[in-house]
Parts: sequence; C-alpha cells; structure tokens
Amino acid sequence: MAKVSVNLGARSYDIHIGANLLEQSGQIIKEGARSENLFLVSNPTVFSLYGAAVIKSCEDSGLKVVATLIPDGEEYKTMGQAEEVIGEAIRRGIDRESLLVALGGGVVGDLAGFVAAVYQRGIDFVQIPTTLLAQVDSSVGGKVAVNHQAGKNMIGAFHQPRTVIVDVHTLASLSEREFAAGMAEVVKYGIILDESFFVFLENRLSDIKDRDEQVMESIVKRCCELKAMVVEEDETERGLRAVLNLGHTFGHAVETLTGYSAYRHGEAVSIGMILACSLARDLGLMGAGEVERVTGMLVELGLPVKLPQLDSRSILNAMYRDKKTRGGKLRLVLPCGIGRAVVRDDIDDELILKVLCNQSQATDAH
Ligand SMILES: NC(=O)c1ccc[n+]([C@@H]2O[C@H](COP(=O)([O-])OP(=O)(O)OC[C@H]3O[C@@H](n4cnc5c(N)ncnc54)[C@H](O)[C@@H]3O)[C@@H](O)[C@H]2O)c1
Ligand SMILES: [Zn+2]
Repeated sequence: MAKVSVNLGARSYDIHIGANLLEQSGQIIKEGARSENLFLVSNPTVFSLYGAAVIKSCEDSGLKVVATLIPDGEEYKTMGQAEEVIGEAIRRGIDRESLLVALGGGVVGDLAGFVAAVYQRGIDFVQIPTTLLAQVDSSVGGKVAVNHQAGKNMIGAFHQPRTVIVDVHTLASLSEREFAAGMAEVVKYGIILDESFFVFLENRLSDIKDRDEQVMESIVKRCCELKAMVVEEDETERGLRAVLNLGHTFGHAVETLTGYSAYRHGEAVSIGMILACSLARDLGLMGAGEVERVTGMLVELGLPVKLPQLDSRSILNAMYRDKKTRGGKLRLVLPCGIGRAVVRDDIDDELILKVLCNQSQATDAH
C-alpha cells in the first residue's frame, strides 16, 4: 500500500492507494472522522459492485452508514440532483459533524463533493474514486462542481477532502473505453511534468493494458504525487495548476462541437494533446520524434488521436468560448519536449488554424 500526502496546512490530507483497500476503508475513515455517522453517496452501477464492501468495512469499524444514490451519468451532475441529495441528508438527520463519503467516478465525486461544500456551510468528506480518471485526477485537489445548462462545472467550489481512498482493484470492472480515457490523463502527467514517468509508461504498456495491480498502483501513486505537488503550489488555479489543462482547451472544443456524446472526456483530451504537441512542434518547442512518441503511446492505449470532421474555424471559436480564456486571450498549455510545459497566451490564431487544418487533412488521408 502507498500513501501520498497533500500538504495544504489545515486542509492537508492523505491519499491511500492499494489493491483491495475498500476492505480497510472503515478503519481509514474512522481515523479522521469527527462522528460515527456517514452519509454515503454513490450511483447504482458502482454501489452494486462495491457498496457492500465499503458498508461492511465501515460497520465493522463501528461507523453508521446512511446511503443515497444518484442516477448514473454526466447529465445528472446538476444542481437539481445536488438538491435531492441535500434533501435526503436533511431527512436522514445528517449533521455538521457527519462525514460524507463519495463512492464512484468523477461525476459522483464532483457532485457529492459539491454537496459537502455547501451542506450546512460545509461538512467533511472522503473520496473513494472508482474510475481511473477519478483516481488520478478528479478526486485530488478539491475542485467540486455541478454543471449548468450554460456549461460544465459552472457552479462549484474548492473543498478539499479529508481523505482519499484509492482501491486499484476497482479498475478491473471498468470498460475498455473508460480505462483508456483515464489513461489519457495519466499520459498527460508524463508529458507536462515527468519525462522518466513517461518512459516508465512506454516500457510497461502491456502490463498497463492488463491492468496489472502493482503497476497501476505505482502509476496512480505517481500521478497523485504530481497532482499534489501542483495543487500545493497553486490550490486555486492562479498559475501553475493551469498546466494540468494540457490538451483540454482543444479537447473541450471537440466535446462541445460533438455534443458531449461522441467522445469520453479523456478521448477528447487525447486528440487535444496531439494538437497541442503539433502546435508546440511548429513553434520549435518539441521535436517531431517526441510528437511521434506521444502519438504512438496514445494509439497503443486505444485512444483517438485525430480530429473528427469539424470546421477548423468553428473549433477555434469554441476554444475562445471555453472558460479558460482570460481577458479575451486564449491560454494554451504547450509541451516543451516531454516532461515540461508552458502556458502561453500569445499564439497567433493563424498558427492554431494551420494545426487544426493539417490534422483534419490527416483525417481525410486515412
Ligand atoms: N474535480 C476535478 O478536478 C475534475 C477533474 C477531471 C474531471 N472531473 C469530472 O469528472 C467527471 C468524469 O468522471 P469519470 O470519467 O470518472 O466519469 P463517471 O463518473 O461518469 O464514470 C464513468 C462510468 O463508469 C462507471 N463506473 C465508475 N466506477 C466503475 C467501476 N469501478 N467499474 C465499472 N464501472 C464504473 C460509472 O458509473 C459511469 O457509468 C466529469 O464530470 C468531469 O467534469 C473533475
Ligand atoms: Zn481532464
């Protein structure tokens, strides 16, 4: 078992990572709990797979669990659904000392975390992420939110969890597609922050595809260390934290223009990272061989790397509408080789359009 600390003064916490940790979740939760009352939030898919293990472990540790489920799907990450959960918390007598436990992927984690941030002005919560994306990304760092019709994550807060419990055994039940989508975020960490981690991924591709638990434990650990480092430096995304958005401005545009149904988020990020790498290559920040290595790895993992048939100008316009623009300027994360990245807001639109057009042509050619 591995432990990663996130050092944020009074809001510090540990991320526990290992195989079959759900069976010890009660003990881990009890260590930091202020009351024995837990409010477990999950969805039917995850609860049917892992709810019993968590509840048993908690009850064995003397904790009392009240559970509530939200429907499965990003379309339920809404204010309305958060209100339902809050209503249930009130009816079941959840008080300010109670601990909310989020068991599920990023949707459950974001919504339940948001409820924890606002319920009675904020209660403690624990993340038990069960998708790869949630284990390496969304459960760490304290960003919690629900969507609004006008856009994703429009209503939210920064609310750090008390503890994160990652059981890599839960990865076994993920679909191929969900697993690959999570791997896109894993590859992202290597490109922006850690070349030797990227090399490790290249060397262990076959174990990764087999979801070898030891290899996945070390991968999740490294990603959490890297995310913790970034969050410690920049908790509320005023600067450095923005590098975590590599591929995301391009990716969000693809997600928006394809109606959020054609691609999983990680798949769109995969396409977006290749666009960012290609732009970096055109700017002389990255070698052609390095772009090939990134492409090769994403393809091996079963991720898309080419733009769908979309008008380049529409993509650029959608990028400008993304909430990550500042003062009307597009801020792009660009890799400097593998292992380092910069944020730039001075890239000429024409250069971006050229990359988008070339990628579309590449799509035509295949
Ligand atoms: N807060 C952050 O910092 C942050 C960062 C990145 C993404 N996010 C958010 O995360 C969300 C996406 O999360 P996601 O990709 O985990 O999607 P998700 O939560 O919808 O999970 C994907 C699917 O897998 C199922 N599932 C979960 N665990 C499973 C398991 N172990 N076995 C089988 N099926 C399982 C879920 O029920 C769901 O159907 C988005 O809403 C995004 O905005 C937040
Ligand atoms: Zn992402």
